Amino acid sequence: MTGRLSGKTALITGGTSGIGEATVELFVAEGCKVMIAGRNAEKGEAMAARLGESARFVTCDITQEAQIKAAIEATVEAFGRLDCLFSNAGGPTRGGPDTMEAEDYRYAMDLLLGSVLFGIRHAAPIMKAQGRGAIINNSSVAALRGHMGGYLYSIAKAGVKRATELAGMELGQYGITVNCISPGAIATPIFFGGSKASAGLDPAHADAKMAKLTRNLAKATPLHRSGLPHDIATAALFLASDEGAYINSHDLVVDGGMIAGGRTSFETTAAGANV
Ligand SMILES: NC(=O)c1ccc[n+]([C@@H]2O[C@H](COP(=O)([O-])OP(=O)(O)OC[C@H]3O[C@@H](n4cnc5c(N)ncnc54)[C@H](O)[C@@H]3O)[C@@H](O)[C@H]2O)c1
Repeated sequence: MTGRLSGKTALITGGTSGIGEATVELFVAEGCKVMIAGRNAEKGEAMAARLGESARFVTCDITQEAQIKAAIEATVEAFGRLDCLFSNAGGPTRGGPDTMEAEDYRYAMDLLLGSVLFGIRHAAPIMKAQGRGAIINNSSVAALRGHMGGYLYSIAKAGVKRATELAGMELGQYGITVNCISPGAIATPIFFGGSKASAGLDPAHADAKMAKLTRNLAKATPLHRSGLPHDIATAALFLASDEGAYINSHDLVVDGGMIAGGRTSFETTAAGANV
């Protein structure tokens, strides 16, 4: 541990799986006090108990503005301040240009874009009063080019990028940075329909599926290896730490070079490759 987040506090949504889970672990190891927000209370409470004084868990469905606001308030109540909000949670979406239903649209926008907008909305006043803060949103390379994610997924993630740029421009004067990360192909349960869908798999089957996914995703990057949750956690650490203090309104692409071109084809599941 090097204490790069010593004295800081963070709220991480989707903190019980994949990228969020790796980020919780890394932030705590770097001296941060972390509120883990998620829907899986059993796993979240177990993580918090294992991490001790440095972590707490709050139940939060990010499609509900009131629950996002409550999670932010719970963080301040538990730790006294909010230095970083990592709006990370997300999942696959349904529907294409000629098949989407109104319900698919509303769910995708609430889940992937609304959650980011309301996170900023309720974190910013607290950070303004503190005179500093770092908001990090999880976007995706699907926002940037090609057809790597679902239709609505890609559109919502493109909105995350613009929300990040604009919010950073408005909030920078108060010492608040707003940035997003665009992960490439990262081996997580999202490829199996999200952590909820994969939670029912028996552990041996889940491990075998993850090993196959990791081999498949390796084909998509010039680095010839799959992205791992830790690869994104280290980017979030950089943006949350004082080392990232002058980075604002930025989209940090962490994809092993995937969108530069070349090796972009890889097998996906029926749920689609929402990368
Ligand atoms: N894995 C990739 O290749 C990849 C690539 C680009 C972007 N992303 C983004 O990274 C983020 C994390 O995804 P991941 O790959 O770690 O997947 P994951 O399925 O392992 O984790 C997603 C987390 O979000 C939570 N979540 C989903 N819907 C929620 C809701 N309504 N309320 C609260 N929590 C909810 C899940 O329970 C889970 O904890 C997502 O925003 C995803 O779009 C992932």
